[in-house]
Amino acid sequence: MNIAVLVSGRGSNLQAMIDSIENGYLKARICAVVSDIGDAYALERARKHGIEAVFIDPEKYSSKDMYEKQVLTVLKKQNAELIILAGYMKILGKTLLQSYKDRILNIHPALLPAFAGLHAQKQAFDHGVKVAGCTVHFVDEKLDGGAIIMQRCVEVKEDDTDETLADRILEQEHKIYPEAVKLFVENRLRIEGRKVKILRS
Ligand code: GAR
Repeated sequence: MNIAVLVSGRGSNLQAMIDSIENGYLKARICAVVSDIGDAYALERARKHGIEAVFIDPEKYSSKDMYEKQVLTVLKKQNAELIILAGYMKILGKTLLQSYKDRILNIHPALLPAFAGLHAQKQAFDHGVKVAGCTVHFVDEKLDGGAIIMQRCVEVKEDDTDETLADRILEQEHKIYPEAVKLFVENRLRIEGRKVKILRS
């Protein structure tokens, strides 16, 4: 399966996906990495692995729709069948959502539906939670609101800061995102309303 990865930053989740493919765990191919930030390190990571890496500058487009049409052009050219968001910080618009309905996944660094939006780890830490974590979910029009595929918990320790907590959540992100993508690639996910059923292999 051809996977396109949308990024905005350092790309550690992208790296986890690349590693999972290269070590044979995930039978898929990353056909394009698209960034809305020109100097995102994720682009560098992609190029190091011979993956098509494209910066599309949002400032050159008059609307989200026009921007996403350009993204779509790249994805179609590379025959992308699945989009995964890996630290992509733009909210998706209808152009991508409609073209890839139920074929877009995201990782979020909190146990959704708690702490949607930006700086989720800090939101959780500041709230005083005892258990934090991460979520892989389908993307729909609601912010961080689509059906949940997989979650993993991380215990908050007495001496944690929001940064040490975020680091431990990230370690779990790198595990569950390839696992969830593997389930999608193996056609084992069924969306039933709010729920995602996982079929046995
Ligand atoms: C990750 O923690 C990811 O969960 C988060 O951004 C970080 C990207 O790191 N995404 C969101 O907050 C989306 N709402 P990475 O670029 O190293 O993968």
